[in-house]
Amino acid sequence: QTPVTQATAKAVPTLPDAQTVTQVKHYTDRLFSFRVTRPASLRFRSGEFVMIGLMGDPDPKTGRQKPLLRAYSIASPSWDDELEFYSIKVPDGPLTSRLQHITEGDEIILRPKPVGTLVHDALLPGKRLWFFATGTGFAPFASLLRDPQTYEDYDEIIITHTCREVGELTYGRDLIDSLRTDEMLAELMGEGFADKLKYYPTTTREESPKMGRITDLMRTGEAFADLGVPPLNPATDRAMICGNLAFNLELKEMFEEYGLEEGANSKPAHYVVEKAFLD
Ligand code: A2P
Repeated sequence: QTPVTQATAKAVPTLPDAQTVTQVKHYTDRLFSFRVTRPASLRFRSGEFVMIGLMGDPDPKTGRQKPLLRAYSIASPSWDDELEFYSIKVPDGPLTSRLQHITEGDEIILRPKPVGTLVHDALLPGKRLWFFATGTGFAPFASLLRDPQTYEDYDEIIITHTCREVGELTYGRDLIDSLRTDEMLAELMGEGFADKLKYYPTTTREESPKMGRITDLMRTGEAFADLGVPPLNPATDRAMICGNLAFNLELKEMFEEYGLEEGANSKPAHYVVEKAFLD
């Protein structure tokens, strides 16, 4: 059932749980972001995801159409009037092969039931918060980086983002730049918040100032030396991971070696993990 909200009522939805696309930005031939109207009833915690999608093709036998939905982290902060998403484009991906063609005014389906583990509630208090992302795994951190609680709860926030190519860093870099320069954000987040932030982008398949997988850069100690911090320590450090499966598993293994324990909503601990969406 479609919640009757100002946004959906105005758009006269033709889809169940329809929301209207308000903006689309393409970054590379593999990446784009978009914004949609937000149901007035939707409350979420920064870092959570929702199911979004489009109507699937009609069933050849019955002619019936079913929604084609995938989990997408909400990239916008909870105080934003709209919702933002950051997506990969997979040429033969059932959803993203079509989703990549949406334009302003189109409708998408959005099930307003946010869930997820990359939330502040799943971590014990600490001094330094690490966000580890690959590719579109940056999305939940785009939300958390614009959440005042992130800066209230920690003295230092470090975001690492590993991508194959330089162009894939643009979404994250633009967001970090906006944190440092946008006056409205500064007002919302509290004075000096951006000084707590360290951004560590790396690429693996195209030349950039810092090359290599973050996992390798941590093993050699190079990442810690560059950032001017000691290796992760359960007494001080908390971490959130969002990337491809191999990346998540490798980091989990490294964290266990550092003595960090995985947390959950029901049992907060030192780090939490979520898989980045792949179509
Ligand atoms: P690499 O180019 O060396 O595979 P993808 O686009 O395949 O999801 O990868 C996104 C980024 O994550 C790439 O830079 C990739 O590096 C990196 N990556 C993939 N697997 C791992 C892993 N197990 N540990 C660290 N980084 C990884």
